[in-house]
Amino acid sequence: MLSQVRPSPAQRERLRAVSRKIITKIEQMAQEQGIVLQAMLVGSAARGTWLSQDYDLDIFLGVPESSDLGEAVRLARLVAPEQEERYAEHPYIHARVDGFEVDLVPCYLVDDASRLRSAVDRTPFHTRYIASRITGLEDEVLLLKQFLKGVGVYGSELKTGGFSGYLAELLVIHYRSFAGVLRAASLWRPSTLLELEGGRRGGRLHDEPLVVVDPVDPNRNVAAALTLDRMLLFSAAARSFLARPDLEFFFPPEHEPLGDEEVQSRMDARGTMPIILQFQAPDVVEDILYPQLRKAEEAVRALMARNGFSVLRSDVTAYRDRAVMLFEMEVWELSRACSRSGPPVWEAEHAARFLAAHPHPLSGPYVRGGRVVVEEPRKHIYARDLLAAELEGLSLGKHLSRAIRRGHKIYAGREILQIRDREFRTFLARYLDARAPIS
Ligand code: UTP
Ligand code: MN
Ligand code: MN
Repeated sequence: MLSQVRPSPAQRERLRAVSRKIITKIEQMAQEQGIVLQAMLVGSAARGTWLSQDYDLDIFLGVPESSDLGEAVRLARLVAPEQEERYAEHPYIHARVDGFEVDLVPCYLVDDASRLRSAVDRTPFHTRYIASRITGLEDEVLLLKQFLKGVGVYGSELKTGGFSGYLAELLVIHYRSFAGVLRAASLWRPSTLLELEGGRRGGRLHDEPLVVVDPVDPNRNVAAALTLDRMLLFSAAARSFLARPDLEFFFPPEHEPLGDEEVQSRMDARGTMPIILQFQAPDVVEDILYPQLRKAEEAVRALMARNGFSVLRSDVTAYRDRAVMLFEMEVWELSRACSRSGPPVWEAEHAARFLAAHPHPLSGPYVRGGRVVVEEPRKHIYARDLLAAELEGLSLGKHLSRAIRRGHKIYAGREILQIRDREFRTFLARYLDARAPIS
């Protein structure tokens, strides 16, 4: 197992050579142009905790607090022709150099991690903290990172809401081994607080499910991005693994895209009604796109519930320039007749107004539970029609509202077979499987 994730000496040497080359190049350019700048390797590559099959080089460009980050971004652009600008709190450059994925991130050089100018300024402190304590524990970190990946909870981006590499490293330092982390995690419950060595809780109260006080900045929760469900999925998987260790926790079988017949037979077996909303994804980073997709998902679920339909489960995804929202309906068709309960009979004025507003009921008016009641035709008897009619009126967030107004498609039932993309069919396979490694 370890041999599959541990970088070979040759790989390590190559990484060292490439990072040294990039750092020298940047510092040379800075010197020639009279820019004060310090380039440094940070992240897992600097700490010896990178997975041999999946890693990046994180090179930070530190400038004095008094200067601005723009100069550093400009230099970063000159490192390699193959690059693009990305955005977190500040713009940074993602480049490909000699086959390596490289993040070139401008930051301020501050002398105290609790007095930062931007979130990334903490990273050099993280690297110093981890590097001085991780020696001898690197393999334990690799095991934990691969386990987190296999379980699907690695990554602190909002799309995943999981564990960052730094959090994995802190857990290993605290519990001294991969197995130690799993044993502790198997006992976790919501509102778990870990105060690590050096990390005493600051004044602020956190209401996150897991609080791991950052040893370099006690005001910060290292696990702030971790969602309750990701935290407890890891906990459940840890318990299952300790009871019955298996390589599949680290390397689960990948989902294959479903063919037409498979989609058909799986849906038939469920007897539900899938409804898909598809549109062109707005051109924003995933950390903005996914929270908006989830918010829209909630808005549609609420619309369905308000109108008497019921959603069994739903999910969202985005691939290439597509955004897809899937609502699997448990109740998708309702009777034409529906009952409308009005005000109490003794509120004469309200009752009269209610009756005037419903002049042609299918049945009624009658009195039930002290209230005036009518039965009248429902506007939408199919969930799909409701969605089509009400979609643009929902509050879906700035980017999504605009994207959906520009154009969208709704597919229901068999029609979803018209979506033939591999990515979509794989998403469907994962959705229908929905199996976590817990037993
Ligand atoms: P990376 O996302 O590249 O993580 O962030 P990593 O630790 O190098 O792990 P892998 O191996 O690439 O997956 C680089 C650095 O940015 C800071 C950490 O210091 C991290 O080492 N960071 C990143 C955070 O503090 N929090 C985050 O949520 C993400
Ligand atoms: Mn990294
Ligand atoms: Mn990175």
